[in-house]
Amino acid sequence: MNQIDALKFPDGFLWGIATAPTQVEGHISNEWTDFVAQDGSNCRVACDHYHRYAEDVQWLTELGVNAYRMGIEWSRLQSGPYTALNGQELERYIDLLDRLKSSGIEPMVVLHHFSNPPWINSAGGWVNPAAAPMFVDYATKLVSALGDRVRLWNTFNEPDTYASLVYLLGGFPPCHKWRLWSFRKVIAHMAEAHVQVSRFIQQRRTVGVSPEVGIAKNWTFFNPLRCFSPWDHLPAALCHQVFNHYVLNAFLDGPRRAASTFLGLNYYGQVRFKGFQPLVPGSGASRQQLDHLGLVCDDMVERYPAGLGTILRKFHRRYRLPVYITEHGAASQDADFRIRDLSLHLRVLHDAMNEGVAVRGFFYWTLLDCFEWQFGYTKKFGLVTVDFNDPALPRKMTRVGEFYRGICAAPHREAIARS
Ligand code: NOJ
Repeated sequence: MNQIDALKFPDGFLWGIATAPTQVEGHISNEWTDFVAQDGSNCRVACDHYHRYAEDVQWLTELGVNAYRMGIEWSRLQSGPYTALNGQELERYIDLLDRLKSSGIEPMVVLHHFSNPPWINSAGGWVNPAAAPMFVDYATKLVSALGDRVRLWNTFNEPDTYASLVYLLGGFPPCHKWRLWSFRKVIAHMAEAHVQVSRFIQQRRTVGVSPEVGIAKNWTFFNPLRCFSPWDHLPAALCHQVFNHYVLNAFLDGPRRAASTFLGLNYYGQVRFKGFQPLVPGSGASRQQLDHLGLVCDDMVERYPAGLGTILRKFHRRYRLPVYITEHGAASQDADFRIRDLSLHLRVLHDAMNEGVAVRGFFYWTLLDCFEWQFGYTKKFGLVTVDFNDPALPRKMTRVGEFYRGICAAPHREAIARS
């Protein structure tokens, strides 16, 4: 088999892009509205996708994707516990979904992506067990209201990141630290809500659609820098245990596994530890130090393409669920770096699929440069760049976007093989 044939992906494979409401929409009222990011910015306008979603669907079309992973913002749709959904806001999302449909783009809808309505937060957020039935009420109303417009559902995006950044590391509002007990409760309540919402979604098979549902798990490898140092092993093992192992078990072990029809994987790379210092940009490690240690990083984490194969095989062996790569991308101003990074990961993905791992789609993170949570607008993940210094927020295609367009278009494999 020659190199190009070897990079053939199956027909019907989803080539998509992912976004999240708080990061792109603007004009939202949730816990992020008053949050000031490290660069002094906020998400009040973000990319103004709220008013410009029709234009952004054009960009998706321009990129040639056949799938789009998008969030629906809970705080827009319910003004209090167990209330009816806001009809006007619902209509906007329906219009967006209809535009995607007429552009031949299949949506995957995310129900929870790092944000809650203010009335959930003021009642203690997900630490409060009452959050779970309230979310189930919201989600079941939404799923029913959208009918068969949506077949692919993602209940929770990265519950691991959400619970650790809010309750352990203090990065996400309300920025608590080292509340391990709260972390455990949040994960338990989200896992319970996932099971209930997923069962509801799966029952909809009876009304003619064949829905798929799962969470998106961020898998990060945590490894020691020096393999003989117990002080490097200790934090790596702890992080792995809490972030990866505990969360996966909570959502997928035992009878809970039946609630999911797929497993979403958000994969970016690895974090190595030297003592208790995580060796990633933005955690006190300088670029010079990282280069000196030979660690190849984007602006967020160390890149580890081979790890994608390792985790895909592990998921396959352990859960036997089809996988969607619900997010992968790199943040850098260097387009060549990002293109190389994407090619390397797609080759690894392809190898794993050839070995029998069932992967149904790949969603690049992300469409637009956008609000990267505690980091503000400094991390450039977009296939389309946005000029945040211009109030008109003009969008412009990047070279990475052109490269991805080549992959999405037939014969996409040649674009990868040539790079
Ligand atoms: C995962 C999160 O789901 C997304 O919101 C974030 O922007 C990307 N990772 C990049 O950090």
